[in-house]
Amino acid sequence: METKTIKIDPKNPEISKIKIASKILKNGGLVAFPTETVYGLGANALDKKAVSKIFIAKGRPQDNPLIIHISDKKELYKLSSDVTPTALVLADKFWPGPLTIILKKSKIVPKKITAGLGSVAIRMPSSKIALEIIRNSKTPIAAPSANISGKPSPTKATHVIDDLSNKIDLVIDGGKVAIGIESTVLDLTQKIPQILRPGKITKEQLEQVLGKVKDGLKSKKPKSPGIKYKHYSPNAKIIIMNHKKEIRKISKKYPNKKIKILNYKNEVTMAKNLFNDFRNADKKKYNIILVKAVIEKELGSAIMNRLKKASSEKDL
Ligand code: TXA
Ligand code: MG
Repeated sequence: METKTIKIDPKNPEISKIKIASKILKNGGLVAFPTETVYGLGANALDKKAVSKIFIAKGRPQDNPLIIHISDKKELYKLSSDVTPTALVLADKFWPGPLTIILKKSKIVPKKITAGLGSVAIRMPSSKIALEIIRNSKTPIAAPSANISGKPSPTKATHVIDDLSNKIDLVIDGGKVAIGIESTVLDLTQKIPQILRPGKITKEQLEQVLGKVKDGLKSKKPKSPGIKYKHYSPNAKIIIMNHKKEIRKISKKYPNKKIKILNYKNEVTMAKNLFNDFRNADKKKYNIILVKAVIEKELGSAIMNRLKKASSEKDL
């Protein structure tokens, strides 16, 4: 399958181009498009066959469920049989935006999407391109990050093309994404809402609205199936430093290795560039990526979560 690419203006998406994407989605095809967090690989969420194609193209384990993207809050009632008051409060406050909520699923949601779970993950993205594509497709869109399973999430169209060329129908190139790390995933099927994946919407922000929120990463049994998989990981070994002074020590320890040092002005730029920098380091065949830890608060929690996952065990 030849993968086409179409450039769309993220500020003023051209409707004729949006329609090309929506037509492919309606016909059961796969389209990668930018959201404000990372690029997603979309398929019609109500079409089992189309959803299966996502798992094949990504090489994604069948037991890892997908997020369904909507363009209108009303669609919540289609996808969930129990839209709780908390869900509505959160939707009002944070949608469209980088928050995914988990609710009890309705019957029309294919089991393939939820990997057999009784719950479903739903999000309304804020990217204009994503919203227009979903709206024009007239169906909710299932979309995981548009990378090969195990690779860092794509933050530019070229990342998607590198991973999925000839495996999907279309890539919508809307330039570099705004945030750069995936949405916050919040489970609302338990008494106290639980963060399953930290993201741009922080625990602090959620607590302001909800009162108490549990940190799922601290609980012994993570409920998000995706959490058990190794993620976001470049080929290079990632070493997290606590202080810049460690650069010399590490360079001495690995005299024959090509070491890339990543430096950022602040956490916002770090989130935005981290996955791109991982991918570039691999292209340039670095053996080690050295990056300084950030404080695990607010956006820093999400960044450290991705860094720790990426740095888990790798031999040199
Ligand atoms: O920002 C994002 O969320 C991006 C863009 C494209 O929207 N999407 C994304 O999807 O990161 P994905 O598939 O790469 O990650 C979805 C995460 C996985 O960790 C998955 O296990 C979890 O959400 N998830 C999905 N449905 C779930 C459910 N019913 N219960 C628990 N976890 C769920
Ligand atoms: Mg992913």
